[in-house]
Amino acid sequence: MDQYRVFGNPIAQSKSPFIQQQFAVQTKQTMNYLSELVELDQFSCAVKNLIANKGKGANVTAPFKEQAFALCDELSERAKLAGAVNTLIFSNGVIYGDTTDGVGLVSDLLRSQVQLRDTKVLLLGAGGAAKGVVQSILEQSPKSLTIANRTLSKAQAITQQYPEGSIKAVTFADTENLVFDIIINATSAGLSGDSLPILDQTIESSIACYDMVYGKEPTAFLKQAKQLGVEHVIDGLGMLVGQAAASFQLWRGVSPDVESVLASLRTQLK
Ligand code: ATR
Repeated sequence: MDQYRVFGNPIAQSKSPFIQQQFAVQTKQTMNYLSELVELDQFSCAVKNLIANKGKGANVTAPFKEQAFALCDELSERAKLAGAVNTLIFSNGVIYGDTTDGVGLVSDLLRSQVQLRDTKVLLLGAGGAAKGVVQSILEQSPKSLTIANRTLSKAQAITQQYPEGSIKAVTFADTENLVFDIIINATSAGLSGDSLPILDQTIESSIACYDMVYGKEPTAFLKQAKQLGVEHVIDGLGMLVGQAAASFQLWRGVSPDVESVLASLRTQLK
């Protein structure tokens, strides 16, 4: 049977096996997808081992996305721009790498009735999570894309990878005088319980606030947005299922149904 894995450390919390198994049942694909805890210095061994044992592909999560990028023989354009991969495809001795996080984000926004076209988008953060979605956001033709980061130089470094003028890099303080339609949080601040230095008025004037993080409870950023009456307040659970669906499509050539799997996961979270 065709084998797939999600590699990470830690990995016990991963919902990917559940999601991919649901997709396989829905679309009647004969495949086996498991999670695998990989020691920090054993990533390439784990990949080679999978390839030698009927492996057809894998997902890669923290902390291996950059190592996976380095291991690939071929990369998609969006993976090259992100500098990281979350999806590996093994075909005829070649390891091909792609990143589906951006597709997952955009498809989840569209599913939530939020269009990026002609909107002013503010992306918070300039780490791996932010880098992974920039290209997909630009493909939607927003009116503008601004990246705000605590360390300005990291936001500036991202802008340099894209055509001049297509992205603005700012500090959090700079956002105080600006107005945005859609605010996407790609920082890890919420995970460590920190709140973001972003003003109520900036959040209040937006139509959608998205946090790539998800959990049983809304993040501090989403709570703030909800309290301020923002129309669309969305967590990252749909992005998780969306990126999984895009990986599944790359491996199996069929597009699974996101909505039913997302509903099951939402119930499990509660
Ligand atoms: P990830 O892969 O989740 O993106 P990362 O590459 O470590 O993780 O990036 C974390 C991001 O969250 C960075 O943009 C970081 O800002 P810095 O570049 O200035 O470090 C941001 N971040 C983390 N904690 C934060 C906080 N308390 N306030 C604001 N930004 C924070």
